[in-house]
Amino acid sequence: MENKKAVSRRDFIKYGLTSLAGLTGVAAFSRRFFPQTGGTGGVGVPSGGDGGGDHSGHGGLGTVGEVDHTFNRFHPHDLLHDFDYGTISQLETGQTLREYEFIAVDREIEIAPGVYFPAWVYSSPTSQASQKFGQVVGTVPGPTIRCIEGERVRITFINAGSHPHTMHFHGIHAARMDGVPGVGAGMIQPGSSTVYEFDAFPFGCHLYHCHAIPLKRHIHKGLYGGFIIDPDPTKYTGEEHEVAKTRNHTYPENQQVHEMVMVLNGFDTNFDGENEVYAANSIAFAYMNQSIKINGDQLQRIYMINITEFDPINSLHIHANFFNYFDHGTTLLPTHKIIDTIMFCQAQRGIVEVSFKGFEPGHYMIHAHQSELAELGWMGFLEVEA
Ligand code: CU
Ligand code: CU
Repeated sequence: MENKKAVSRRDFIKYGLTSLAGLTGVAAFSRRFFPQTGGTGGVGVPSGGDGGGDHSGHGGLGTVGEVDHTFNRFHPHDLLHDFDYGTISQLETGQTLREYEFIAVDREIEIAPGVYFPAWVYSSPTSQASQKFGQVVGTVPGPTIRCIEGERVRITFINAGSHPHTMHFHGIHAARMDGVPGVGAGMIQPGSSTVYEFDAFPFGCHLYHCHAIPLKRHIHKGLYGGFIIDPDPTKYTGEEHEVAKTRNHTYPENQQVHEMVMVLNGFDTNFDGENEVYAANSIAFAYMNQSIKINGDQLQRIYMINITEFDPINSLHIHANFFNYFDHGTTLLPTHKIIDTIMFCQAQRGIVEVSFKGFEPGHYMIHAHQSELAELGWMGFLEVEA
C-alpha cells in the first residue's frame, strides 16, 4: 500500500472522525473503513463521540480537525475558482489558439483529517494553484480548463507518472484526438508525451479524464477535471445573446455572477472497491468546516460535474431554495426550472443557477441527497452574508 498511514480502528477515533457517531452514517463509515468490523480485536466505534464533543459546531456532522492544506498545496476554496485559461495566441487563419501543458504525476493528498490518499493527478503551469504556489502543483480535481466556443485548443500532455495515462475529453473532436487505448496516440507511457488538439465545441460544462485501463482505477485515483467551454455571444440573439454574455469570461457581464466549480468525487482509501470518503472538490466537509460565503444579491452559478467512481449515482440538493439547471451546460436557457434536487450518473454534469436575493442571512446547506454520501463528506454550506 502506498498509504502514508494505514488507518486502524484506533486511528479512526484518534483522528476524530467519530463525531459522526450516533448518526446512521457512522455504521456505513465504520463498515467501509473496517470491512471486518469486530474481528480485529480493536476498539469498537464508540456511541458517544470521541469525548471531545462537537468540534464542527454543526450538530456533530463533519470531521474534527482540519486537513493540512499546506501539505496538499491547494485549498478547496481556491479550487472553486481554479479556472485555467492557458496561453492565448492567434493562428494565421485568425482563429484563437489556446494552449495548455498538462503533466500527470503521482502524489499523496490528504482528503480528510489524517486520511491520506496516494493519488495520480494532473497539473498545469497555468492553473491558479500553480500560479499561487509559484511552482507546478498537481490537484484533484485537475485544473479547470476554460476556453471559448470555436477556439482551437491544444494540450501538450506529458506523463511524468508511474503508469500509462491519457487525456480523454468530453467534447467534439477527431477520433485520433481521443485519449483512449488503441486510438491515435493511445496510451501515453511514463516519460512520453502527446498533443491533443481540437476546436472547442459544443459550449457547456464538460470534463476530461484519463481513459487508461483499468479505467475504474485510473479515474478514481484522481485523474479528472472540469472542461468549460464558454458560449460565444456573437453567435446568439435576443435573450440567448444576453445570457451568453454572462457565461463568457471575457465579458463584463460575467463578472456580475459568482461562478464556482464543484467536481463531485469519492475516494476508496482501503482499496475494497468502495468509497470511504466523498466530497465536492476532494476534501471531505471542506465547505462545511469553512462555508462558502456569498452575496445574496449576486447570482450563484455552479459548474457541477460528477466523476464519482464505484457509486452509480451522485446528487445535489440545496436547502431552503430552488434552482435552475442547464443539463450539460449546452443550452443558454434552463433545461430544468425550479428544482431543489438533481442527480448525476458518472460524467453527468450541468450548470446550477441559484439566487438568494431577498433571503435572510444564514447557512444554506448543499449536499448529496443520498444520506450516506452526505455523511461521508459531500456536505457544505452556502452562507448568505448580512
Ligand atoms: Cu491513467
Ligand atoms: Cu468520460
